[in-house]
Amino acid sequence: MNEVFREDRSVVLRYAQHLSGVDPHHLKKLSHREGARILFLRTVRDVDVYCLDLSTLTTTGTFKDWVAALSVARAKSAGLTRIVFQSSGNTANSLSYYATKAGMRSIGLYPPASRRRLRASLTTENNTFVEVQAPESEIKRILTEVSERTGVPALPPLKDQYVGNALRARLLRDAEASTGLHWDWHVQALSSAFGPLGFYRGLAELQIPTGRWPRFLGVQQQAVHPYADALSDQKTNASDDSGYVPMLEPTMFRRRPSADLIKEVGEVCTATHGQVRAMSNQQYLDMEPSLIGMLDDAGVHVCLNADGQPHERAGLYSLLGALSAIEEGLVAPGSKVLVAHTGGAGYCGQPSFEPETVLHPAAAASRLCAMLAKGVVQ
Ligand SMILES: Cc1ncc(COP(=O)(O)O)c(C=O)c1O
Repeated sequence: MNEVFREDRSVVLRYAQHLSGVDPHHLKKLSHREGARILFLRTVRDVDVYCLDLSTLTTTGTFKDWVAALSVARAKSAGLTRIVFQSSGNTANSLSYYATKAGMRSIGLYPPASRRRLRASLTTENNTFVEVQAPESEIKRILTEVSERTGVPALPPLKDQYVGNALRARLLRDAEASTGLHWDWHVQALSSAFGPLGFYRGLAELQIPTGRWPRFLGVQQQAVHPYADALSDQKTNASDDSGYVPMLEPTMFRRRPSADLIKEVGEVCTATHGQVRAMSNQQYLDMEPSLIGMLDDAGVHVCLNADGQPHERAGLYSLLGALSAIEEGLVAPGSKVLVAHTGGAGYCGQPSFEPETVLHPAAAASRLCAMLAKGVVQ
């Protein structure tokens, strides 16, 4: 068995005493398997590659469950009964699941490209997904308008993104203590970078000196690689292309992170001598079957849709980035690398989600306000 560490139950409950502003009673009632495990994958060029599986032991299949459980419990603790959110899919599934469990009314907005990511089984009369035919930036604007007009909060607030992901630092500290292992590199596929930023903030809170922080490797795809562009002075393979490049993974979609996010990722890279790299579509597609095989051999089963395509590619990108850094000699022989598998192993795709409501951006805000005003169906 390749598994070296496992939190089967809930990372969120495990560290609940460190979460302020959340009623432990609500957290306990809402929590449902926000787990994680670590597995040894293989040794490549004398580098030991491990997988931080944040997918298999979660309820909706991604690391977003930690943040969603925390955020909905916080909202419930504050007496809220309605929430709104927007997402490229995974956060929507998580928040809808926990809002349903909390007996709250929720509406989640998503762009058309994310339709295949959504799970119909997570919707109810009170917990709905609404497709908005607009790009991410416009959907975010609509969400803010709806939230301001109705007073219904948009989840998760930035704070919960960081606090939820900071639990990763506590978990890895415990994992290192119980296994006697120390990971020299921490790798994750990026969209907004909340996962790794929360993790490194967590290390700082635990007062772990920066000299002991794992080096950070962020991984992006060819079609969307703002961090790689902003932080690299050398051209990546992926940024040489001009013209249209298809996006292979809609989850890794954030094209314009705020200046604050770019600055913070830059600081983490500087502190840890890390980097963000972009992988070309060709590099990814050439390697996809062997990445899936490598994970499968170790017991991380990547879910494939009926068409044979991986349901979620972020974890595969993370592993690809790690392997390419090892091949290029960036990772010193004898090192240990921990590759975050953030989604796509815990759940096997259902037939495509059929939206009940599709809104044109011009009409969206008013329609959504009216939908929220209707109240909760008992
Ligand atoms: C499965 C999965 N992996 C990776 C990411 C990237 O997350 P972030 O860059 O916010 O840490 C996301 C979310 O956007 C996701 O859903």
